[in-house]
Amino acid sequence: MSAQYPALRLRRTRASAWSRRLHAETILTPADLIWPLFIAEGQGVEEPIPSLPGVSRWSVDGIVARAKEARDLGITCIALFPNTPAGLRTDDGREALNPDNLMCRAIRAIKDAVPDIGVLTDVALDPYTAHGHDGLVDAAGYVMNDATAEILVGQSLNQAAAGADIIAPSDMMDGRIGLIREALESGGHHNVQIMSYAAKYASAFYGPFRDAVGSRGLLKGDKKTYQMDSANAEEAMREVALDLAEGADSVMVKPGLPYLDIILRVKSEFQVPVFAYQVSGEYAMIEAAVAAGAGERDALVLETLMAFKRAGCSGVLTYHAAHAARLLRA
Ligand code: PBG
Repeated sequence: MSAQYPALRLRRTRASAWSRRLHAETILTPADLIWPLFIAEGQGVEEPIPSLPGVSRWSVDGIVARAKEARDLGITCIALFPNTPAGLRTDDGREALNPDNLMCRAIRAIKDAVPDIGVLTDVALDPYTAHGHDGLVDAAGYVMNDATAEILVGQSLNQAAAGADIIAPSDMMDGRIGLIREALESGGHHNVQIMSYAAKYASAFYGPFRDAVGSRGLLKGDKKTYQMDSANAEEAMREVALDLAEGADSVMVKPGLPYLDIILRVKSEFQVPVFAYQVSGEYAMIEAAVAAGAGERDALVLETLMAFKRAGCSGVLTYHAAHAARLLRA
């Protein structure tokens, strides 16, 4: 028997709801949530995504309605991903540079109607390329680093000019954060932030997202020559160190739950704002568990989101954002 027992009983502070709340070490609020949204071409369009039950693509008018909903729920930021019409996808992904592309039209419409919510935009070419890769591929199918980084700079400036608040490069090319920061500075976009997908792993959890942006059927091969190997943690620290040195304001770890150890390490080694992306496959896994009667949605959602906060995250990108915000406000 412990020498301290029975004077020390850790169950004492857990004995009532008020006391559990009083002793909570971590808080989760709607302000911690970033809501990823998929944009469809057209007007009055809602397209459900079968592999992401409960999530739809919305045309720009619907996206604006979601942005208002998010603002009213206390969500601080939304993340945008376009489903580019098939005819505009090319080998060089040039639609990413079009100032009137779906992404830019959505950014402008949101900034017009809901100026008080943050708009985060993904930088990578996969929603725009005919081969589904995040960059330009050479004859052997290898994603070329420097040529891709150059286009990503143009894509970032295009999004910033449309009004994006946070540029979020998800491509994993070397050196792109420095190049994008330099271009934003010389373009006068001093207060446009960069949230770098610094530790992004080549993951089996991205499938439903690729359905949502229409790249799953197009993708040739895999993304292992640019996204990280799930075996590696030291390498994630090097990625984070480089992106911070190049000018990232915050960093992201992705996917989320399978990489909580990486989140904790990044937070303790760098003391910078860290975000987690609870990705599409994680969302689908929770929904599948609920559908199978293996768990209760509200509790599963809040517990996983709390885990990210406890590990050190400033916030979380999650497809459950609106649902979670409703639960947290109730
Ligand atoms: C693309 C990108 C991906 C995600 C965000 N940006 C997919 C990929 O790298 O293939 C995944 C997000 C999710 O699964 O929810 N650059």
